[in-house]
Amino acid sequence: MVFGVGSFAHSVAQILKDDGAAVSTYLTRNYGHFPPSLSGPVYTREAFPNPCPLLARNKIDVVLPMSIDWAQAPWAAELLRSKIPIFSPTGEAMRIERDRDFARKLCAEFGVPSPKAAVARNRLEAGEFLRRQPRPYVIKNPLCSPTSPIHTILCETLEDTRSWLRNIDYAEGVFLQEYMGRAEAGHIALISGGEVHSLVTNQEYKRAFVGDMGVVAGAPLGGLIERDPDDKYGLARQLIHPLLPWFRKVKYHGPIQATAVRRDGQWFAIEYNIRVGVTSGPMILRMLKHPTEIILNTARNKKLNVEFRERLHFGCSLTLAGYGYPYVQIRGPQLPVELVEPFDCDVWWNEVTRDNDGQLMTTGHRIADVIALGVSLDEAIGKAYSNIRKIRSLASYYRTDVGRSLWPPGNI
Ligand SMILES: Nc1ncnc2c1ncn2[C@@H]1O[C@H](COP(=O)(O)OP(=O)(O)O)[C@@H](O)[C@H]1O
Ligand SMILES: [Mg+2]
Repeated sequence: MVFGVGSFAHSVAQILKDDGAAVSTYLTRNYGHFPPSLSGPVYTREAFPNPCPLLARNKIDVVLPMSIDWAQAPWAAELLRSKIPIFSPTGEAMRIERDRDFARKLCAEFGVPSPKAAVARNRLEAGEFLRRQPRPYVIKNPLCSPTSPIHTILCETLEDTRSWLRNIDYAEGVFLQEYMGRAEAGHIALISGGEVHSLVTNQEYKRAFVGDMGVVAGAPLGGLIERDPDDKYGLARQLIHPLLPWFRKVKYHGPIQATAVRRDGQWFAIEYNIRVGVTSGPMILRMLKHPTEIILNTARNKKLNVEFRERLHFGCSLTLAGYGYPYVQIRGPQLPVELVEPFDCDVWWNEVTRDNDGQLMTTGHRIADVIALGVSLDEAIGKAYSNIRKIRSLASYYRTDVGRSLWPPGNI
């Protein structure tokens, strides 16, 4: 059972269904309910405030959460007691994503380079820190959650940082992390049976507009993955393997995604996520020969034998953004989504529903993720673009330059 909504739930449910699994979705948020219903039964929070009885009744083998917020739910302890395997680390192991300062300390302890950072509880403390260590800082929530009062604000100068620090909600404090530049890349692995299994090196196009301009949007506008079990860019070796003693100590099993920025010839870990993610997840699962078996075995902390499907070395994900995005305060009416031609790659609907006449309609700002895989990067990118052009919706847009910057890893 997937815990999530939108294109993440739609894609994961469908890919596992295609692999022979019986799938369903517990809808953890109040939007994006229609897409996963195309792949299997869906259950709302209103009808099932606590999903645990549902898991027991339906004899669910594994839970796949879209985000880490399930661990804060009132039923989280009951879920853990039920011993139903979860495709995510649990307990102490979750802190590497949830608590940014904890991750920073972990890096320091195991010799992984990470940017200078500090937590400030209020504007006074933040100002004081800036006076002592005047640099540009990225402003983040200290505790990660989709409902945090702050979402990452990328400041590139000291003055940008000063301006923003006058203008944020300090309810949960702030995490100030030195701005490290734009040469970013990521690496995603599975940890199971106490071993690291590299899957892919990836890039996410986080800025809203072509040319890597505009704000960092709520979720990426595009993404690339390269199958990388041998860690050809060295990201796993530098950012994930050094933490192995800690992974083993906390019995970590599940996905791990390291995001890093390269500066002065070195990769610095800027964030760890404990999920395959909404952008890369659907591409990774399609690349695996036996996705269901891999997910089950990881959730059970078993030894893995990761096999990839032939001829799928690269993946490209493009997001079709709708009216008003990325400025989500701007809201339009529900608008028609028209399909001009049949697709020949995966298209995962996000904030879209079907009206009584069978017409697809937008219900929010992110319409769809169009995902193509290929033997080469050019093939994957070409296929994704030829398919995203088949969707029409008023004032929708997508980035036309995915793959032309930020790749290969370390380039800008
Ligand atoms: N210290 C930093 N230096 C440069 N860019 C950063 C830094 N921290 C974050 N970013 C940029 O902001 C994006 C989002 O930050 P991240 O820490 O991954 O938070 P989240 O994914 O929770 O929003 C990163 O992917 C990166 O592009
Ligand atoms: Mg991130």
